Amino acid sequence: MNISNIADGTYHLSINVENILFEGFWEIPNGVSLNSYIIQGEKTAIIDGVCGWDGVPDTLLALIEQLNINPETIEYLIVNHMEPDHSGWIGAFKEINPDCKIICSKKARDLLEAFYGMTENITVVGDNDTLDLGGGHVLNFVEIPNVHWPDTIATFDTLTGTLFSCDCFGSFGKIGSTIYADELTPEELIVYENDTVRYYSNVLAYFSPQVKRAVTKCQALPIIMIAPGHGLIYRNPSEIMNAYSDYADYQKGPARRELTLIWGSMYGMTQTAVEYAINILKDEDIIVHVHQVPETSWGTVLTSAWTSTGIILAMPTYEFKMFPPMAAMLEELGKKKVNNRKAFRFGSYGWSGGAQRDLEEIMTRLAMGWEFIEPVEFVGNPRQEDLEHVGEQVRKLVEEVKSVFNS
Ligand code: FEO
Repeated sequence: MNISNIADGTYHLSINVENILFEGFWEIPNGVSLNSYIIQGEKTAIIDGVCGWDGVPDTLLALIEQLNINPETIEYLIVNHMEPDHSGWIGAFKEINPDCKIICSKKARDLLEAFYGMTENITVVGDNDTLDLGGGHVLNFVEIPNVHWPDTIATFDTLTGTLFSCDCFGSFGKIGSTIYADELTPEELIVYENDTVRYYSNVLAYFSPQVKRAVTKCQALPIIMIAPGHGLIYRNPSEIMNAYSDYADYQKGPARRELTLIWGSMYGMTQTAVEYAINILKDEDIIVHVHQVPETSWGTVLTSAWTSTGIILAMPTYEFKMFPPMAAMLEELGKKKVNNRKAFRFGSYGWSGGAQRDLEEIMTRLAMGWEFIEPVEFVGNPRQEDLEHVGEQVRKLVEEVKSVFNS
């Protein structure tokens, strides 16, 4: 649990959550923080909530007590977003403070009734609406739909220049001894930035066009500090806004000067060629991520694929189709719209091919727009000429990726 005074009358309340699957299926190796904020003017407001992943609000109430704030005196409950990682505590809080006024978007109002049966004391806000807490704290509301759900708003305190952005500008990774991104060591920053891409690609990627619009909207505000619902606080807001703008652009490609090799093998025949390809890649001046499926989680593969301009797929045929774990992974990449990559596919087959046909069907159906160079398929174990052919194509793909960044 963490409480910090981050600006005039403004408090950050946070807990870390570990050993869960975020949204029920995303692996989070470094955990995630859930952040809530309290603003005290003449009146007090709480923005979003933190509670145990089981929905128990004791943690939040304990944090509020540490601030010597009586929860019954909190006048406004600002719901930036209704996903239960932020809203799961509202029912219990309303039992303690039934008179508090809920401030939210129109779509969040509908979800309040659907999720928690609440219909009273709700004020709907949208762009250009304000809430004056007194003491100079005038809150502006900013609609940022689909970042992450259609209901989402951000709240901007005009006194402190703080944008409470909820999921937007968030990150995975638990909060340790610092709550500010600018206080991380260079080594910590590398880990944290990877957690930020992981969060973006796993949770927000599908909504990249809406993220781009939200970033543009936020860039027009006189923001001094960004205080998101997950992750660290940014006192240099342009850094995370620019990073998010880049992440959104990666959806339609090109992304970074990176390459991801995703592979699966049944009996080691495709694996032999994968090992040959990895050796070739070691000598190339390019960042390479290698992931085996199904051993590697979807979230990890997606994180690498999101930042990669080139993708190599290696898998055998299985029952006239593509090796199923690879097909499932590609379906997920397609649903997240990892589009317009430069790509190469190789793999083995036994008594029948089919993986290549399956690959073409997935690419067409999901309109992924990947540009493939000629595939390499071999019967059973790859012969020396097969390996050399794989090597040639790997080098060719690397050159194509590099050429994107040379022009
Ligand atoms: Fe952090 Fe969309 O909830």
